[in-house]
Amino acid sequence: MQQDEYADVDLTGKVSVITGAGRGIGLAFARTLCEHGAQCILAELDAEMGEEAAKGLQAEGLNARFWPLDVSDPAAVEAVARQVWGEYGSLDIWVNNAGLARHQPSEEVSLENWQTGIGVMLSGTFFGCQSAGRIMLAQGGGSIVNVASVNGLAAQPGRAAYNSAKAAVIHLTATLGCEWAARNVRVNGIAPNVFLTELAMASMTYSGAASLETYIRRCPARRLGEMPELLGTLLFLVSAHSGYITGQTLRVDGGFVSDHYL
Ligand SMILES: NC(=O)c1ccc[n+]([C@@H]2O[C@H](COP(=O)([O-])OP(=O)(O)OC[C@H]3O[C@@H](n4cnc5c(N)ncnc54)[C@H](O)[C@@H]3O)[C@@H](O)[C@H]2O)c1
Repeated sequence: MQQDEYADVDLTGKVSVITGAGRGIGLAFARTLCEHGAQCILAELDAEMGEEAAKGLQAEGLNARFWPLDVSDPAAVEAVARQVWGEYGSLDIWVNNAGLARHQPSEEVSLENWQTGIGVMLSGTFFGCQSAGRIMLAQGGGSIVNVASVNGLAAQPGRAAYNSAKAAVIHLTATLGCEWAARNVRVNGIAPNVFLTELAMASMTYSGAASLETYIRRCPARRLGEMPELLGTLLFLVSAHSGYITGQTLRVDGGFVSDHYL
């Protein structure tokens, strides 16, 4: 799949915020939104990485900026949303992507680990939806995309907080999608299978995890997903192509979750 298959997705002038955009999927999301005309704020916890990522996109001639953000801090999320609205006059796309991979037997998980996982991936997603939603409802429309995971639909041992947060994100997406549908604010999700980022590699190297080969054998498509396939899903969800779609989480997983056949 080539990215220019989405050449008709014109996001010119759309103001977008992508959380956790310093690297991996978030950075790829920011690049593709920029390439389709959007102005992107890379909202990232790691300032050095965020700066570097934004500079890289600027060097490619793209309209990107880094703003520091810890998504688990609701006041900080609200401040970023308000500041974007104040500076740009609109907020059209908000992608809740920030996440982290921690693996541990559940009986050993500390309170801090549990709270961080839930705080970043569930509460952080809610705070992003709420702060962006307030503005989008006031301005008469917008599109929010939440990055869930196949782990929100099928469990993986050793990732209690991650799996629980991602499952809740899928239901949060459905809830807000219904709640705001009549007011032109769409809330959708993406549930990826394995895409080779640092987070995914950390999952693979955890001693209790399946190997890459096992994943591929277990996946009906018999291959990993390629980044353009994830980017295409994002472009679909933020464009008019999906104008009557809300509250849904699309699995981008090569059939992984559908298949229970051994
Ligand atoms: N890569 C995969 O295979 C895969 C599969 C399913 C779901 N996902 C989800 O996709 C998203 C991105 O994953 P990735 O693979 O690119 O991971 P990654 O580790 O490469 O990137 C995650 C980014 O989020 C940032 N971040 C972490 N905590 C933050 C916070 N509190 N506030 C702001 N930013 C924060 C990190 O600094 C990092 O830049 C995550 O939500 C992850 O759960 C990834």
